[in-house]
Order: sequence, then structure tokens, then C-alpha cells
Amino acid sequence: MIELKNVSKFFGENHAVKNVSFKLETGMIGCIIGTSGCGKTTTLKMINRLIEPSSGEVLVDGMAARDEDPINWRRKIGYVIQKAGLLPHLTIKENISILAKIKNRKPEYIDERVQELMKVVDLPFEEISNRYPKELSGGQQQRVGIARALMENPPVMLMDEPFGALDPITRNSMHDEFYNLNQKLGKTILIVTHDMNEAFKLADKVILMNHGEIVQMGTQKDFTEKPANEFVRSFLAEHLNA
Ligand SMILES: Nc1ncnc2c1ncn2[C@@H]1O[C@H](COP(=O)(O)OP(=O)(O)OP(=O)(O)O)[C@@H](O)[C@H]1O
Ligand SMILES: [Mg+2]
Repeated sequence: MIELKNVSKFFGENHAVKNVSFKLETGMIGCIIGTSGCGKTTTLKMINRLIEPSSGEVLVDGMAARDEDPINWRRKIGYVIQKAGLLPHLTIKENISILAKIKNRKPEYIDERVQELMKVVDLPFEEISNRYPKELSGGQQQRVGIARALMENPPVMLMDEPFGALDPITRNSMHDEFYNLNQKLGKTILIVTHDMNEAFKLADKVILMNHGEIVQMGTQKDFTEKPANEFVRSFLAEHLNA
């Protein structure tokens, strides 16, 4: 379960996130959507404490973020960084297993788990596990980022535009894979996206933001049948394609 209570963030004068509150129950998929600069990444980063809120409270599974050590806190939260964020001097295998290394997992375990995860994200282990990130396409790098976040099987996953660089076919198979992971393992998954179709397809709860605020939150049905205001109406008209 992820819960935000009146969370705000100021960067100097810029009120980037304004009094955001929402709750995502355990095992649910949530999608945060909105135009560039509306505060999506900042909201995500406040959940895993890469950014500290200016005010308000963040809870995961009933525990308050501010009561815990940030390093420990991040261990239970898988984070997929916008633009993959792989370490350039490490191979694909080393990138995926970085957290397992820190935890001193056995090499055999790491090998097996990396192979398993590369299958999940549809990457050929033999061919690319010893390459470096720059030797991969953008979409492949993005999938490595997803595998890395899954390595230690965290109960909560935060994903910042994880499918953005993928072609439509790969994106669809990743959607299915995530839907299955969520159904099978009961993970709580919060995804940032620009894509309203993706949000409606994947999410139990869609959170639409504008200028740092939540404009509307709910299911596809809530949005299409009861758009909260003109902004929601025009956002849907612009971003929803057949
Ligand atoms: N570290 C920072 N220091 C100062 N301002 C920041 C910082 N990070 C983000 N901002 C500002 O906060 C606002 C929200 O940024 P954020 O990265 O959360 O947007 P976003 O919704 O993720 O956008 P995008 O879709 O382009 O990724 C923007 O005005 C941005 O310029
Ligand atoms: Mg962003």
C-alpha cells in the first residue's frame, strides 16, 4: 500500500507538487499521468525518498517514510528511472544484479535470477548480458532498467515512463507481463506515463495531474463518464486514441 497525505514540494519558489493525497492499495496498479513538468517524477521520487517532501506524509504499508533510514526504505521499493539510468561502466548483467551484489548474494543465485529476469523482459541473455549499456538500443536499455528493479523482488515498484522507448508490439507484451506480475505476485505498482491509453489499460487507479495538483483520480469509467472539469475533457480528447 502506498499512501500520500497532503504532500507538497517546493523547489525554491516553484511549488512543484501541491497538497497531493492518494492511496494505492496493496496489489493495485496506479498510473500517474499529466503533461511535462506537472510534478510526476517529483511525486514518485518523494515516495522512495530520492526527494524529501517540503510537507506532508508518505506511507508504504503503513510505515511512515520519515521514520526510516532512507537506504533501508529504498530496499523495499523497486525504482525504474526515467530514461533507464543504467551505469555506463557496468555490463548489463552487472547493472541488473547491482542490488544483489550489495546484499552479498551467491554468484550462482545471481546468474540464475538474471537469466530469469531477462526472459521476463524479453532480452537474450547469451547475446547481451556481457555488453555495456551504450551497446543496446533505447528500448533494450529500458527493459534492463525494469529487470534491475525486479532483481530483489520488492513488494512495491515505482516506474517512471518505463515503456516510453518501446515499439508498440514490445510495449504490449511488457504490459501483459506487468499485468501478470501484479496478478501473480500481488505487487503494488505505481507507473508514470504520458500515455492515457496505457494508463487506462493497466491501472486500477488513474491519477491525472496538472501544475502539481491532482485534477482527477479514478477508473477509466470515472474519467469518461464524469470528467471533473474542462481540463480533463480536453486532455482525454487530445490523448485518447482509438
Ligand atoms: N531538482 C530540481 N530542482 C529544481 N526544480 C526541479 C527539480 N526537479 C524538478 N523540478 C521542477 O519541478 C517541476 C516538476 O518536475 P517533474 O520532474 O516532477 O515533472 P514531470 O511531470 O516528471 O515532467 P516530465 O513528463 O517532463 O518528466 C518542474 O517545473 C521542474 O522544472
Ligand atoms: Mg518526469
